[in-house]
Amino acid sequence: MKYLKINGNKEISGEISISGAKNAALPLIAATILSKNELVIDNLPDVVDINTFLKLIDMLGGSFEKDSSKSATAVKINTANINNTTATYDIVKTMRASILVLGPLLSRFGKCEVSLPGGCAIGQRPVDLHLKAMEQMGAVIEINHGYIKATAPNGLKGAKIVFDKVTVGGTENAVMAASMAKGTTTIVNAAKEPEIVQLCEIIRDAGVSVEGIGTSKIIIEGTNGKLLDMQNFSVIPDRIEAGTYMCAAAICNKKLKINNIMPQHLEAVVSKLEEMNFEVLQDETSITILPTTEIKPVNIITSEYPGFPTDMQAQFMALATQANGTSTIDERLFENRFMHVSELARMGAEIHLNGNIASIKGNAKLFGADVMATDLRASSALVLAALVADGETNIHRIYHLDRGYEDLEGKLTKIGVDVKRFTE
Ligand code: EPZ
Repeated sequence: MKYLKINGNKEISGEISISGAKNAALPLIAATILSKNELVIDNLPDVVDINTFLKLIDMLGGSFEKDSSKSATAVKINTANINNTTATYDIVKTMRASILVLGPLLSRFGKCEVSLPGGCAIGQRPVDLHLKAMEQMGAVIEINHGYIKATAPNGLKGAKIVFDKVTVGGTENAVMAASMAKGTTTIVNAAKEPEIVQLCEIIRDAGVSVEGIGTSKIIIEGTNGKLLDMQNFSVIPDRIEAGTYMCAAAICNKKLKINNIMPQHLEAVVSKLEEMNFEVLQDETSITILPTTEIKPVNIITSEYPGFPTDMQAQFMALATQANGTSTIDERLFENRFMHVSELARMGAEIHLNGNIASIKGNAKLFGADVMATDLRASSALVLAALVADGETNIHRIYHLDRGYEDLEGKLTKIGVDVKRFTE
């Protein structure tokens, strides 16, 4: 197993370029199952989850290859020959996002089997809302031997789907399923994340009528079984990767410019940094964080987009240890997303947990320690803490980081961090 060794308290400065968004790319690759033609996706991040999803497409009978004629991050995908509609346990257990093939496979083939994802480090994460949406579109769902078996022999039918809870993945599955269904689907209480906006836009550009993009009510006119005419496209920048490096600047209290982003996707994050007294400069594709004379404490409540993202909560917790006062973080989306608390405590942080609310004491003197990464964003919080810790921090189980941060060491090294990867 690999681990990262970070030597803290080095001066950081310069610029970081952000990669394509993992959480946008996953549903977009799933959506290619609906395409009648080969297409090129550009700005795909080279991270483990994306490579796993491409492997899943390959297992289903599709194919993919790097398209270096276009760019280093472009991949050509062809799903015309998909002949297998089962996403097996082997792959789903390594990546929950595999559930995103449910909607497109069912819509195109009228059947599929997808291993039921189990719980995970951040909570139970059921998929009941995905299944209910498919049932409302006429699918019959059975759960057998750990597999979701879905059938719709006469194709899916448009329906009114009212989500009981805002769900990113559930909305994505419903959007993809509705695209090839017969008739109109109205999705009420839809998620509004930028990743869903891009998915809807790509499907609209493929000839499907999609209204209400970016709102909580999406209306889709299905093609009644006709495959889509998908165009080449480029994945939007990763707002969570960007936010993580913005926190790196903030925790070190140094100037850093974050390039190749869409600042409009980061409003909630910028607003919290401003509350913490940082000056944040923005132009069309970049954000610069400037140092402050005093890092002020902050109160955060996670919520659906455009609110403060749960995927940025752990990073802000690391940052809050350096504020001048006590901060609070109220995690409202996942019931167990505080695994980083005990690891940060091993580095000297004082964090008190009361249910889903964490109180973080500021002015902490952090020191290097051996710590364990527990999930993707929790791991990035440990990296941030290590940047300002005295001495060496060894972050173990960094496969979590590799799932979602492209070239983390390269990007950190470029701004002056002393970081190296070793094998245990
Ligand atoms: C997506 O997960 C992201 N993953 C997560 O990012 C992110 O934390 C989350 O959205 C919230 O923003 C991807 O995009 C691949 P949800 P998803 O369905 O779609 C409950 C990361 O670190 N729920 O919006 O699985 C659920 O348990 C990851 O990059 C049900 O109850 O999240 C949660 O409490 C981690 N039943 C809430 O809804 C369902 O059927 C929101 O989950 C579905 C969800």
